[in-house]
Amino acid sequence: MTPELTVAEQAALTSGRDAWHTTAVESAGLPMITVTDGPHGVRLQARPEDMLKGQPATCFPPAVASASTWDPELLRRMGEALGDECRAMDVAVLLGPGVNLKRSPLGGRNFEYFSEDPVLAGVLATAWVNGLQSKNVGASLKHFAVNSQETDRMRVSADVDERTLREVYLSAFRRVMTQARPWTVMVAYNKINGVYATQHHWLLTEVARGEWGYDGLFVSDWGAVADRVASVAAGLDLTMPGPDDPGDKALTEAVAAGVLDPALLHESAERVRALIGKAAARQGGEYDQEAHHALAREIAGRAIVLLKNEGGLLPLNASDGTRSIAVLGEFARTPRYQGGGSSQITPTRLDDALTEITAATESTVLFAPGYTVDEGPERDPDASEADLLAEAVAVAQASDVALVFVGSAHETEGADRDSIDLPAAHRRLIEEVAKVNARTIVILSNGAVLATSPWDKEVPAVVEGWLLGQAGGGAIADVLFGTVNPSGRLAETIPLRLQDHPSYLDFPGEHGHVRYGEGLFVGYRGFDAREQEVAYPFGFGLSYTTFGYGQATATATADGIEVRVPVTNTGDRDGREVVQVYVSLPGSKVTRAKRELKTFASVPVKAGETEEVVLTIARDDLAYWDIRLQRWIVEGGAYECAVGASSRDLRSTAVVEVDGDDARMPLSADSTLGEWFADPRGAQALGTVFSGAAAGGGGGPMSAFFADPTMMLFLSATPLARLSAFDSGLLPPDVIAKLVAAVND
Ligand code: BGC
Repeated sequence: MTPELTVAEQAALTSGRDAWHTTAVESAGLPMITVTDGPHGVRLQARPEDMLKGQPATCFPPAVASASTWDPELLRRMGEALGDECRAMDVAVLLGPGVNLKRSPLGGRNFEYFSEDPVLAGVLATAWVNGLQSKNVGASLKHFAVNSQETDRMRVSADVDERTLREVYLSAFRRVMTQARPWTVMVAYNKINGVYATQHHWLLTEVARGEWGYDGLFVSDWGAVADRVASVAAGLDLTMPGPDDPGDKALTEAVAAGVLDPALLHESAERVRALIGKAAARQGGEYDQEAHHALAREIAGRAIVLLKNEGGLLPLNASDGTRSIAVLGEFARTPRYQGGGSSQITPTRLDDALTEITAATESTVLFAPGYTVDEGPERDPDASEADLLAEAVAVAQASDVALVFVGSAHETEGADRDSIDLPAAHRRLIEEVAKVNARTIVILSNGAVLATSPWDKEVPAVVEGWLLGQAGGGAIADVLFGTVNPSGRLAETIPLRLQDHPSYLDFPGEHGHVRYGEGLFVGYRGFDAREQEVAYPFGFGLSYTTFGYGQATATATADGIEVRVPVTNTGDRDGREVVQVYVSLPGSKVTRAKRELKTFASVPVKAGETEEVVLTIARDDLAYWDIRLQRWIVEGGAYECAVGASSRDLRSTAVVEVDGDDARMPLSADSTLGEWFADPRGAQALGTVFSGAAAGGGGGPMSAFFADPTMMLFLSATPLARLSAFDSGLLPPDVIAKLVAAVND
């Protein structure tokens, strides 16, 4: 028998003991458990005053990079490794992953999030959570929900329509919560349509628990609770950080005063108790630091996206005459490998590209920093920017190839960026080096999209290196020298200009509100809808080999659609292709994106060989949210499944007929004439009435109109009940009531 907790104990259990522990209730045999950040490493603080500094742990590639692998299997392995580190450090819950969508390239935490696409984000996060939780360590899926900006992050209301909310912003959460059942979900700071997420009964209780059947624990983001009683009433279970004595007291008083249903507090306390119970199954252990570093390097290598490679300049090798390599840019020596804020890991070791490149080649390697970085050590405080640039250009001129390491100055939790441009000194470095060395390769380090235009025209090769975690330096060398054949793909569109981005006019909002004005058209969906040119499209990435696609076929199954396509490695190097399926429904009755990613697979294909790739699309993923019927509807029709290597490189399309759900909208007195006539039963019923009226039976001023098709069109937007305003005798309320009953029975 589990002992019942008193109301005061329940209140205490539903807030933390401190920043990183739940409250212990000794009388009930409940120990405290440890929770900690997350998501790309374990940031366990030794002492409260250490703030953002944790004990050493593997700094895996942040989500911006791991997502670019498009490989759930790798994410699962990363989750498992994180689970092992949590066990070694006695951590019960790791605070991640983050599946908020990258609504704008300016989002300050984009580096912590996976994608602008909910299917990609959801599939990868599901694998990560499954991996972590297979070790009996809990995940905390965050930040629920619509937390896509840092500006005014603790108050701003994300104002978003219901269809967009469900199909886009809640979609990845729904997938992970229904398929991987994360032990906890972290409820966001912001408001959604005016209501704090932590007080959002509809979101937490009706949708997540009611519709999705989520039975794990809702924990607040740190400091996100403004009103403890309102939060528990809405469905929030655990308030962090603690202690929250005033809140505990408010809860006890609210129960005593009959303001808060005691059953709700009891349920929340039981969920905390259940979490502590699950955590007890975890065993301690050790982890292999070298093996985890190697895994971090493998994931980083798979995350790098080759954006441009004119004339096959990459990979570098001795036989192409590369005897001397200029490594330019401070980032080669002082790597940018993660973003700032709560996810900041103290790595077990840190590889830099300069050392790794030097170790990987017999060519002479010469380094020049080219610019200074704020965060890094000032290697030469006397050197002016102009001197640094001149030195780098001279080194580039004297070398066979120039590797230019540039990127974003910083990205951090708490602040959005105000530009997607490279720092001026970095851009100048590219431009000046490109003038003196035709074999200039740019390697980017950035947590969110950077504009590549127009400077990318001036160089033959561009490597998108994101923030790659502690082993990124080695991974960059692996790709540059071809030990790894790049297979990373963009999980976010690189626009030509920030102004082109669908979110541009409505980010980050003002006066406490941000309007999600682009609606469903987030990321590539918006660029595609406006047929806008982009620098590099969603899903794009080159390889050192090439792939050919055969004819795709698509079959409707009971569960959805199965797509098959033969993919041939047409080059002379083994490689990996990320096969993507974008679905559209031409002639759909509802607004839709031109194409939506529905499934994908990362497939190794040996040189010269062909693989038959089989991909499945769940029927649920074809549904749209019908705001009138308040449910998901699969529209029947001929779905186009376009298979390709990016959202703008579609190689073969298969069409498949899918049966629709019954989605008949009941007719009412408020339905328009147009709606009545579009419905076969409505058309028949009204036709009978109107033909009688037109024939002289009704006699009112409107009756003659109904024989005239133009007039019918003119009146088509008029609700049935309003016709009486023009002709009181035509359809009296009792006649309408009979019609409505007859067509809906
Ligand atoms: C962040 C969360 C993080 C928490 C604990 C908050 O500021 O938004 O992502 O898990 O702090 O550090």
